[in-house]
Amino acid sequence: MKPIYSQEEYNSRIKRILITKEEIAAAIDKAGKEIDKIYDGRPILLVSILKGAFVFMADLCRAVSAPCEIGFMCAKSYYEGTVSSGVVQITMDLDRDISGYHVVIVEDIIDTGRTLNDIVKLLKGRNPLSLRVVTLLDKPSRRLVDFKADLSLFTIPDHFVIGYGLDCGEYFRNLPYIAEYNEKEGN
Ligand code: IMP
Ligand code: MG
Repeated sequence: MKPIYSQEEYNSRIKRILITKEEIAAAIDKAGKEIDKIYDGRPILLVSILKGAFVFMADLCRAVSAPCEIGFMCAKSYYEGTVSSGVVQITMDLDRDISGYHVVIVEDIIDTGRTLNDIVKLLKGRNPLSLRVVTLLDKPSRRLVDFKADLSLFTIPDHFVIGYGLDCGEYFRNLPYIAEYNEKEGN
């Protein structure tokens, strides 16, 4: 049964802000410029991995000047908690053939690396013109498979984080900043 938070308990789960919305905005502005430089006017397809990356995608696509199309895939690897299940499930696939595209995967966070490792393998098999990965957050200390993003905006320590698209049990995605999640009720 899914827990229902009272406002008080909900607030107490937000331990501390790790990355402010101003820091996120500045990093995205810079990332948009780097993407423009890499593709040098060639059209790109930005592919967001739902649900976590939907906020990052919304801001990143507006920081890019290159002609770009938007696509979504849905992958699930966390089930209602803070521990990875180890099973990556594609619950919604892209709606088009990517063989003529320069694809940029837009991800919220790389933790064990399993999700992106699987998705990159899958998409490479569909013969895109090129494939790169941009991630908002990277937790390299937690890696279980060898995976490196082409562009990573923030490297963070081994904390479970929430906000700016990232959830715990589907809550907190709407926080405008990245915060550390408080595992225990109260402070
Ligand atoms: P990976 O397959 O372990 O790299 O996990 C990647 C996915 O797990 C991300 O796309 C997130 O949806 C989720 N995830 C990993 N770490 C966190 C976290 O600290 N907070 C919220 N979600 C996370
Ligand atoms: Mg995700």
